[in-house]
Amino acid sequence: MSPLLALLYSISLLHLSHATTSPQVQTLNTDQPDQVLMVNPKLPPKNTLSDSKKFEGSSDLVNLRYHMGPVLSSTPINIYLIWYGQWSQPQKHIIKDFINSISPSAKAASPSVSEWWQTVSLYTDQTGANVSRSIIIAKEYTDARYSHGTGLTRLSVQEVIATAVKAAPFPVDHKNGIYLILTSQDVTVQDYCRAVCGFHYFTFPSMVGYTLPYAWVGNSGKQCPEVCAYPFAVPAYMAGGGPGALKAPNGDVGVDGMISVIGHELAELATNPLVNAWYAGEDPTAPTEIGDLCEGLYGTGGGGGYIGQVMRDSQGRTYNVNGRGGRRFLIQWLWSPVLKACAGPNATD
Ligand SMILES: *[C@@H]1O[C@H](CO)[C@@H](O)[C@H](O)[C@H]1NC(C)=O
Repeated sequence: MSPLLALLYSISLLHLSHATTSPQVQTLNTDQPDQVLMVNPKLPPKNTLSDSKKFEGSSDLVNLRYHMGPVLSSTPINIYLIWYGQWSQPQKHIIKDFINSISPSAKAASPSVSEWWQTVSLYTDQTGANVSRSIIIAKEYTDARYSHGTGLTRLSVQEVIATAVKAAPFPVDHKNGIYLILTSQDVTVQDYCRAVCGFHYFTFPSMVGYTLPYAWVGNSGKQCPEVCAYPFAVPAYMAGGGPGALKAPNGDVGVDGMISVIGHELAELATNPLVNAWYAGEDPTAPTEIGDLCEGLYGTGGGGGYIGQVMRDSQGRTYNVNGRGGRRFLIQWLWSPVLKACAGPNATD
């Protein structure tokens, strides 16, 4: 190589190495190493739900109290998963990879889904037993023929569970069991999009045969992504000018948006399964729970239109935790009983 060429070559190398070590860039130790940026995008406000209890940051005024009921402390927590309506295999894989990333045995780089669940396992019952750190999918049931139609009410969600329990060999799992019903994007549910993106409660013996905690979450991709898949979709009035929606980590706005809602509901189910354990506020019919307190917060410095510091990969996809198999997810923070603040594993302070 001529001296001049060598010089040019080393200059271009310098240039390259500068690009990969600039202070904004941080590389995580993942299977496929790529450039990861830390970002804290300011976004247009979410079309807030009518009963949104979003609480930003931390406060001594938040009086999250224990009301003497049980938490999900048996290990592992067994999820009985009900797929209602039309679900593709790739969609199912994203959701199952998320659930299977919660347990400590899941292999994932930090900040991980399992580190995120550690905040949940800080909650205990009156015997001192912590919420379990392990969650498994015990059984799955597919209700592809919409056994109760494409419009469900809060009560008919329990009929869907009853149908699944009768049709599938779902054991009556009083000790560790919870149900998780996921509805496809063509299914409407009472209060969906207007007041809720998901909910949790417990089944009634008259409907299902016994009392078990359950949660429902819908795929909002067609009905209201700007509400329930925010920040992967933002309100239409912001279109043209202003910041746009963030890119979903697994390329499916509806399903990637569901992940944070599933995380929210599972965290609340685990700490308040019979709605008599951990919640703030004096009204048990409208409890403010550990997910409600941190809705819309995904990283350090969130609040006031900012979601907080999260990561963006080289393809522009936004996330804040790693899951198994190289998966990435964006999940909201949860209220920590120790810090008395919203907490997540991607905190930078
Ligand atoms: C159980 O909860 C207590 C109280 O929050 C906490 O100090 C402890 O670290 C928790 N244990 C586990 C295994 O999470």
